[in-house]
Amino acid sequence: MILIICWTKALILVKCPDKNSMNVYDSLTDKDIVRKVNEIFYDKIYDHPWMSLYFKEIDKEFITKQQTDFIIGALGGPKKYGGRMPSNAHTHMVITDELFDLRQQLLIEALNEAHAPEILTNFWLKIDEAFRGAIVQSDPSQCKPRYATDEILNFPNPLTSLKKAS
Ligand code: HEM
Repeated sequence: MILIICWTKALILVKCPDKNSMNVYDSLTDKDIVRKVNEIFYDKIYDHPWMSLYFKEIDKEFITKQQTDFIIGALGGPKKYGGRMPSNAHTHMVITDELFDLRQQLLIEALNEAHAPEILTNFWLKIDEAFRGAIVQSDPSQCKPRYATDEILNFPNPLTSLKKAS
């Protein structure tokens, strides 16, 4: 069965494991696995010297819960997520492909450490990748504040800057 998820600027085509499966969420034996992955994932995000700069003003517990609701909804589970779509949530952030790749790497590590089933790993990574085109904007001139009070978040990779300086 091919499942098609269509959001603003994001189209996801995912092959489900067999024709009897309703959705990925139904196929999960451990329904708490998405929360477990996100707990590990956001620990990594908040510990990372570059990635954490984007989350300085964001409550870790809140975003962990919010992302869990978002992913569960995208997997076909209960629709509890009430926030913005990712394509509208990051307009004030400079996000390069390098930063996006780093986020994906941290997510892969979290999925592995939580022993997520393959079906979940594959689907989750496809969801993330589907938003790359809508989220990546490498130049501050592409950014738009969501509110009048929004600052443009633009942080160069501190690890690269350190290497250049030495
Ligand atoms: C390097 C890439 C990314 C960075 C640096 C990033 C950073 C952030 C930050 C800082 C927030 C909090 C915004 C706020 O509340 O003011 C946020 C929210 C959010 N992000 Fe990301 N994000 C990235 C990629 C993604 C991807 C790939 C997805 C989806 C698959 C995603 C989904 C979301 C969602 C659903 C929210 C909540 C939106 C809202 O209600 O405002 N993000 N992100």
